[in-house]
Amino acid sequence: MATPTSPFTDRAIVRGQLYATPDRLNDRTNALRRAKISGPNAAVTLATLAAETLPTARRIIDIGCGQGTSTLHLARQYPAAAVCAVDLSPALLGVVRQRVPECEQIAGDFHHLPIASASIDLAVAAFCLYHSPHPRRALADIARCLHRDGRLIVATKSADSYRTIDILMSRSGLDPEASRRASLYQTFHSANAGVVAITAALRVLRRVDEVHTFRFADLEHLAQYAATNPNYHLGPELTADPARLAAALRERLPDTTATTTSTVTYLVLERP
Ligand SMILES: C[S@@+](CC[C@H](N)C(=O)[O-])C[C@H]1O[C@@H](n2cnc3c(N)ncnc32)[C@H](O)[C@@H]1O
Repeated sequence: MATPTSPFTDRAIVRGQLYATPDRLNDRTNALRRAKISGPNAAVTLATLAAETLPTARRIIDIGCGQGTSTLHLARQYPAAAVCAVDLSPALLGVVRQRVPECEQIAGDFHHLPIASASIDLAVAAFCLYHSPHPRRALADIARCLHRDGRLIVATKSADSYRTIDILMSRSGLDPEASRRASLYQTFHSANAGVVAITAALRVLRRVDEVHTFRFADLEHLAQYAATNPNYHLGPELTADPARLAAALRERLPDTTATTTSTVTYLVLERP
């Protein structure tokens, strides 16, 4: 089967435009956080699942840690453990160093982690495996790092996350194909994550699905989110300037609120 193409699995885009600096991630997180009207805090759910699964973990890795939000919650949940943050982006690891100075930071790729085999009690890989064109391979390498009784918790989103915004972007005419394009999360999402884990020789111990709802107050707020979405073909003059994107949207759409959802799926996995 041909590997699906998406900006989320394009190595140059992942290393560059998406995560070379914290800027886009901050803008996206802020726009979504402001819009969120229901759904639990994902980092809290992860830390709670971890504590329920393996309360005595001593060596923990947070893979694809981003700016360390989950790392921070894990470090608080396990004050006696050695928590290590792993990410491809040196810039984001720099943010983690500031936020969670007590944890080690390792630059590495989750397809071939620079971590000894069978050395980890608990691994977390949240909202990052959809950046892999081959998430089964990434899961297999993470599993290699786990102790025999170790656990892995993964988190991902539904393929239809933020779908109503794709439809609005199409309707605006600024990106007519937006609603027809494949999901950013196509390689690893709520509906295929369990199967991918099984094909990586992992066993699913537990699954949790949580629906998050977002309401964008107006087109300005919507533009702040849309400018950070690499699936939209808007041109640099609009993505670099959310105020200009908002003005372009206002010319084409009625300025109302927009509501959308994303289902977040957590799997607790073990080596058979
Ligand atoms: C959306 S952020 C996830 C942030 C964090 N896990 C959280 O829950 O807030 C995705 C992260 O995956 C990292 N990433 C993407 N591809 C990777 C790879 N091949 N190996 C390691 N990290 C990768 C990116 O650099 C980015 O920091």
